Amino acid sequence: IERTLSIIKPDATRRNLTGKINAKFEEAGLRIVAQKRIHLTKDQAGKFYEVHKERPFYDELCSFMASEPVVAQVLEGERAIAKNREVMGATNPANAADGTIRKEFALSVGENSVHGSDAPETAAQEISFFFAGLEIVG
Ligand code: GTP
Ligand code: MG
Repeated sequence: IERTLSIIKPDATRRNLTGKINAKFEEAGLRIVAQKRIHLTKDQAGKFYEVHKERPFYDELCSFMASEPVVAQVLEGERAIAKNREVMGATNPANAADGTIRKEFALSVGENSVHGSDAPETAAQEISFFFAGLEIVG
């Protein structure tokens, strides 16, 4: 059993899509074992996305993530990290497969509705960025 950190991004919370996105996770067998709505500061978003700080879109990405509330969550299940990324679809919605969250809901490569950890080490790091152990109820 594996855990991954998911974020429902501002473009999706703004459009009231939290429930529809959560339904996709649950239909795929991922359990939502922690969840909270939080409005990140730009500094907090910058810290979360520090790995991307040399990328040209870093400032835009951090401003976007701090623009409105997000929903941070821990998803649990068999192969949760890979499974979540399958359900999310490709980063750019133009390349996302049918039935994926980004295909159905994302607006652009920047406003792409969801984040998901990409490896076990980053999942552990990202989960502890948002959640204390006691807040995760498996
Ligand atoms: P995450 O789950 O959000 O990490 O997405 P990813 O792993 O599919 O993509 P990646 O880690 O390569 O990029 C992180 C995030 O940066 C993406 O989800 C996008 O929101 C954003 N991003 C990536 N490329 C671009 C770009 O060309 N322009 C803008 N504005 N944002 C980008
Ligand atoms: Mg990534």
